Amino acid sequence: MALFEKKQPAPKHIAIIMDGNGRWAKKRGLPRNAGHKEGAETLRRIAEHCNKLGIMTLTVYAFSTENWKRSEEEVAGIMRLLRDYLLEVLSDVKKSPVRVCFYGDLTRLTPELQELCARAERETAHYEHQLNFCLNYGGRDEIVRAARAFAADVAAGRAESGDLTEEVFEKYLDSAGVPDPELIIRPSGEMRTSNFLLWQSAYSEYVFMDVLWPDFQGKDLDAAIAEYHRRNRRFGGV
Ligand code: FPP
Repeated sequence: MALFEKKQPAPKHIAIIMDGNGRWAKKRGLPRNAGHKEGAETLRRIAEHCNKLGIMTLTVYAFSTENWKRSEEEVAGIMRLLRDYLLEVLSDVKKSPVRVCFYGDLTRLTPELQELCARAERETAHYEHQLNFCLNYGGRDEIVRAARAFAADVAAGRAESGDLTEEVFEKYLDSAGVPDPELIIRPSGEMRTSNFLLWQSAYSEYVFMDVLWPDFQGKDLDAAIAEYHRRNRRFGGV
């Protein structure tokens, strides 16, 4: 049994910036997409580990609004991995009992991938454990899209501008109804938030780790949770 389990329960929601795939591949003289492929395998392992620990929600940064700047080959490779993952889920929904959801502006994805995302959301909607893929996602973009949606509701007479509160605004975000992550993990040694969950991370604990994402193991997740438990969360109080 991992050390932390004896003292405190695991967080309910963990978010991960899956960083370091490119460096992992470079170290081995492999193309960058080999790193992403291994990164997708790591996600399969870690999602299962999260389920075992009773973590109800896992949110992963799979493709940012800025990642379109990468080569066509790399973008196509990441999209292929995502398609393969979703086809695998859809081929036997009972085998991976997880509710798949998406944050981000999916309209820039191919119609085929958009359809697969919609099907995966529909066909897994009854599961309790949730896996959120952030796809063509940026925290600022999410907030702007939410503000636009609220403004449209005001213009249509469905909402009053004076009634806007944090609670009301939250309902317009991609994460509507999902509790904020208590813990955000960034492997690969980088110490940036990179436009990830800007609104939802207001009180999250960040754990930065030196391991590259394809090398990330269950024991690294356990170590991040143990670090989270050592932190004293005060939410602005004393
Ligand atoms: C960041 O590492 C990683 C990404 C931009 C892509 C993450 C995608 C996956 C793990 C696979 C997607 C598939 C599924 C099933 C989710 P980087 O490439 O920026 O690494 P580097 O900083 O070492 O170059």
